[in-house]
Amino acid sequence: METALKEDIWIFPDFDSLGFAGAELFMAAADQAIVSQGRFSVALSGGTTPLGLYHILGTAYHGRSAWKQTHLFWADERCVPRDHVLSNYRLAYEQMISRLTIPQQHVHRIKGELTPEEAANAYEEDLKRHMGEKGLPRFDLILLGLGEDGHTASLYPGSASSSETEHLALPVFSETTMNWRVTLTLPVLNNALRIVFLVSGSSKSGIVREILGQGRRDRYPAGRVAPSQGSITWLLDKDAASGLEESAS
Ligand code: 6PG
Repeated sequence: METALKEDIWIFPDFDSLGFAGAELFMAAADQAIVSQGRFSVALSGGTTPLGLYHILGTAYHGRSAWKQTHLFWADERCVPRDHVLSNYRLAYEQMISRLTIPQQHVHRIKGELTPEEAANAYEEDLKRHMGEKGLPRFDLILLGLGEDGHTASLYPGSASSSETEHLALPVFSETTMNWRVTLTLPVLNNALRIVFLVSGSSKSGIVREILGQGRRDRYPAGRVAPSQGSITWLLDKDAASGLEESAS
């Protein structure tokens, strides 16, 4: 019997309040994981929406003891060096990691400077070393963004990578951004204890309406994120959620 998807949607007046709520959820997940298993394994989202959250974690929460038992991974990364303007690692480093006492070996960067194939293989090996060789890695938390086309991480509509079931991480060429990336695959996302989507801006209102308002989930990789034994929280600002009010009326 299919278990009902545990999903909740929170709508915030603006980008800053979205970031503060995300930071609160992040630290609550960290505290819970450290109490129950002595460490916190989280995959960070790429893109720009989470930058407010990362800044808040690096400033308002930088003194928390949880950082020493935190392991940072990424949901995806562009295949560029770590200091490249497009690097998801660089964004998180500047806003958060550079300000925190996270042991260096706990920062599991996707090595974008390698070839896409080598970077995906190296990341998959790192995931197995950290999470165990058997079964799927189980993240305590995965932060995700949402593209206007319904992509999440680097899983794009119609791309074979969005239907991958064997690998934990894959190299993907994005026709949208015309660059190579490495992404976690859907089975890994769907094995997470908790997924938090962060979505901001009126440009996302259409896809939010499609997925959350009209329930057209299977068409989009972001809609197919449905952790079998976990929960999803959608953090939206009011602009991103504006389509929901329309579809509700
Ligand atoms: C990336 C992300 C991607 C992103 C969405 C939303 O590396 O770009 O993984 O999935 O989260 O495209 O991006 P914004 O937050 O910049 O709108």
